[in-house]
Amino acid sequence: MKFTYYGHATFAVEIKGKKILFDPFITYNELAKDIDINAIEADYIFVSHGHGDHIADCAAIANKTGATVVTNYEIHEWLNKQGIAKTHPMNTGGKWPFDFGTVKCVVAQHSSGLPDGSYGGNPMGFIFMTDEDNFYYSGDTALTLDMQLIPGWAKLNFAVMPIGDNFTMDIADAVKAAEFVQCNTVIGVHYDTFGFIKIDKAKATQSFEAAGKKLLLPAIGETISL
Ligand code: NI
Ligand code: MN
Repeated sequence: MKFTYYGHATFAVEIKGKKILFDPFITYNELAKDIDINAIEADYIFVSHGHGDHIADCAAIANKTGATVVTNYEIHEWLNKQGIAKTHPMNTGGKWPFDFGTVKCVVAQHSSGLPDGSYGGNPMGFIFMTDEDNFYYSGDTALTLDMQLIPGWAKLNFAVMPIGDNFTMDIADAVKAAEFVQCNTVIGVHYDTFGFIKIDKAKATQSFEAAGKKLLLPAIGETISL
């Protein structure tokens, strides 16, 4: 599976020819200034929760691409009010068979208020179960015992998790989360963007290695194959 990193917690995968974008936050990310949001193609946009650093570019990219936005019920309603009509509302615990594979929404331990103060429902993580790979995007979350349920639903090929601390899991907790979800390959996101979440990348990589796991930290704009 092809994975492209756009900085912060924004990334895209391609499954069965469908381009799927996650948590678009590019315009306001100084580190992602070389990414042209007008060049991003998307058939789907998955939004894990309502915070600006996950939704800032959602409306613009949805309008440009005609992508279907998949998110929780409250964010779906909020987007509809802003004229984004192509949405698919979901909620924690539910799954849906899309044309590229099945996605199950799982618990994320975080918060989800929208940028204008509207109620943003509950934050979610997503498990993608496809003919190619299965993967888990945790969204912004603390380490939670609920993650131990995930191997019962899917055998994961990789997981995408925040590692920046302060707002989410730190590196040590992300290693533990990888153990809970029984996954040996983790792509780290949600680090270095702001002062609160600067990390030592070498130390992060070593922490995963010490646990027998691999941490991937693609550069912004880089596409890797998994
Ligand atoms: Ni957040
Ligand atoms: Mn965030």
